[in-house]
Amino acid sequence: MKGLVLSGGKGTRLRPITYTSAKQLVPVGNKPVLFRVIEAIRDAGIDEIGIVIGDTGTEIRSAVGNGKRWGVRITYIQQDAPLGLAHAVKISRDFLGDERFVMFLGDNCIQGGISTLIEQFGRSDHNAQIVLKRVADPRQFGVAILDEEGRIERLVEKPREPQSDLALVGIYLFDRHIFEAVHAIQPSARGELEITDAIQWLVSNKYQVFPYIHEGWWIDTGKKDDLLEANRLVLEELEPQVRGYVDRDSQLIGKVIVEPGAEIINSTIRGPAIIGEQTRILNSYVGPFTSIYHHCLIEESEIEHSIVLENSTVRGLPHRLEDSLIGRNVEVSRSPLKPKAYRLMLGDNSSVGVL
Ligand code: TTP
Repeated sequence: MKGLVLSGGKGTRLRPITYTSAKQLVPVGNKPVLFRVIEAIRDAGIDEIGIVIGDTGTEIRSAVGNGKRWGVRITYIQQDAPLGLAHAVKISRDFLGDERFVMFLGDNCIQGGISTLIEQFGRSDHNAQIVLKRVADPRQFGVAILDEEGRIERLVEKPREPQSDLALVGIYLFDRHIFEAVHAIQPSARGELEITDAIQWLVSNKYQVFPYIHEGWWIDTGKKDDLLEANRLVLEELEPQVRGYVDRDSQLIGKVIVEPGAEIINSTIRGPAIIGEQTRILNSYVGPFTSIYHHCLIEESEIEHSIVLENSTVRGLPHRLEDSLIGRNVEVSRSPLKPKAYRLMLGDNSSVGVL
């Protein structure tokens, strides 16, 4: 079996972060979501993985490389425009050949991996198997309606009056018949070749499409609050470990990971939290569900339930920073200049909440 990871797309819901970088490379628990996806596929015993890339392809190639460090072989597949998930399958035909494959959205995070699912599909003669998850509000998702024999009978995109609470998760298993489907369907009203239309085509043409109901958590990290939620869930599962320096005036409470080269000076870290390589925490408080990536400085400040990307500084803040996603090379600090005022330089589509 092969793996296909979708890492193109527009990423409009995560602007301004996605103006300058790929959303699949935003870290949760200090590891890019895309790396977690590759590891989940590798752990299920698949060592040939194709990654569909778009405008951010160069960045993804340089972060992921040839896959050797995970013991897998990576092939990059360039998608000239984000024309839909089914379009991504269509252009991957040469890489996939006639093999069965798992398709995984590169910005999705799932608890417990996909080994059972891969094993089940490998043993079956299903033409497709779609991962579903019970959700509280199906109206915001694509949902699947099952028949009496437990097969998928119909898919409905964002139903106003849901007949099912089983949402499509972003992990799909297909055999070669999916290529007939992606060639048969037409672009939707938003101009994309929809994977739900391709799956519906399989169902309508009497192919065997079965569900796989995932019991653990699953998060599509396409928006800020979902990223923070994924970060919270991943941090809860990490094992505490101190590989950096913690001075005698500091306190680590609960599950805290201090990565190599990090320094915690006169500070309190209340886990679950992770402090990245070469990051310094000075006279500060880092609260639960916070991931500070590498080469950052947190000084004379308090931060909680947040993600800070690499090379950023938070210094001298009079109030605690919460529920925040701070990009790369960002500086947030208290200004000594008079008159007292907010002085901001924010990218397009930024959002700031002041006291
Ligand atoms: P989405 O999150 O549905 O789309 P998007 O990345 O364009 O984001 P937004 O809605 O915020 O504008 O895409 C799911 C995943 O699939 C994501 O990792 C990007 C990838 N993708 C492709 O590789 N090619 C495509 O044509 C599309 C639409 C998405």
